[in-house]
Amino acid sequence: MREKTRATVRELAREVVAAELAEGAAGAMRQVAEEAARDAVRGGNERLVAQQVRRQLADDGEFRPRLLAEAVETAARASQRAVEASKLDFMAFARARAEQVFAETARPVVEIHAGQRPPVSFTEVSHRVLPDLLVVLAARCHALLVGPAGTGKSTLAQQAASALGLEFHALSLGPTTPMSKIFGYYDAHGTYHATPFRRAFEHGGLMLLDELDSGHPGLLSELNQALSLGVCAFADDMVTAHPDFRVVATANTYGTGPDRQYTGRQALDAATLDRFTLLDVPVDERLEEQLTLAHAPTEAVAARAVLKKVQWLRSTAERKRLPVMFSPRASIESAKLLEAGASLEQVMEWRVLRGVSAAHRSALGEDEGNNDGPPA
Ligand SMILES: Nc1ncnc2c1ncn2[C@@H]1O[C@H](COP(=O)(O)OP(=O)(O)OP(=O)(O)O)[C@@H](O)[C@H]1O
Ligand SMILES: [Mg+2]
Repeated sequence: MREKTRATVRELAREVVAAELAEGAAGAMRQVAEEAARDAVRGGNERLVAQQVRRQLADDGEFRPRLLAEAVETAARASQRAVEASKLDFMAFARARAEQVFAETARPVVEIHAGQRPPVSFTEVSHRVLPDLLVVLAARCHALLVGPAGTGKSTLAQQAASALGLEFHALSLGPTTPMSKIFGYYDAHGTYHATPFRRAFEHGGLMLLDELDSGHPGLLSELNQALSLGVCAFADDMVTAHPDFRVVATANTYGTGPDRQYTGRQALDAATLDRFTLLDVPVDERLEEQLTLAHAPTEAVAARAVLKKVQWLRSTAERKRLPVMFSPRASIESAKLLEAGASLEQVMEWRVLRGVSAAHRSALGEDEGNNDGPPA
């Protein structure tokens, strides 16, 4: 009896131990399975998880493990799908973004072949008129670039000089620009002072005569001889033009005198105009976009909004024949202001709409507090 009792007790004890062991093992397995499930959700690796779970639960009959394994597999598959879908989404997004950035920042190579000269390659961001200007200059003609304010005329002259390897000189003309700025002068000690024009004329180089239609007619007619005959009477001497002497002049008008927008312009003499090959330089909106975005690398969304607005205002003003100017300079300077921390509203007021009269604002749909009409 005592023996039996002892045996029963022993058996009972073994059962207790076995039960405890079984419970411990089940707990450990549950933990492993849960960990595997977490890994699955985290990593989205269905195959690895399923394998791991199967390995851990292989010997455990019917019970929860099968359900658990199925749940883990379902979770793993779902997370795998989510990861793959987001990967695809991300790839499509990344590709679109990369293409956009490339289009905005890639520098097209302009290659220009003119006559027998070796081709010239140019990779700076440039106005679409640059190849035409290079052809004109390669043909040894002087160029007059005509276009509204801020379209990039002066920059074109600078870029043409660099593309052709010519030294660049510049002079901005105004109604009071004296002859001495072009032809030089003797000071009170009898020393002759040369000018950029003189250096370009004598030694070769590209001379930018900015704002030609603001220059004094008397000064311009003095220039005519230098531009066509190739000889020029400077204050100290008669000089023959260097074969690489070129003039690029810029103007906001075709030399027809003042208009409603460019009120201070002179009418250009036919003899002066005749010395230039005339190229139109309209707004190049692609260049405007490239430059605007380049100046606001961390404010691209706001910069795009300003750009869109400026271009919309420009086309509306043109359509309604309003004498107001929304130049690419407004977009570019706005981008700089945004990058420096100004708000969109400040930039619109300070740089885009400043100086536009109430009547013109109203015609443009830009009354204060009006949020209709133009895109933001
Ligand atoms: N190709 C370019 N690369 C970099 N910046 C440019 C380029 N073209 C124009 N810009 C910038 O755009 C602005 C206007 O250009 P630019 O002064 O050449 O215009 P413009 O036609 O001569 O204007 P205006 O008629 O008022 O004299 C400037 O800030 C200039 O630096
Ligand atoms: Mg200029």
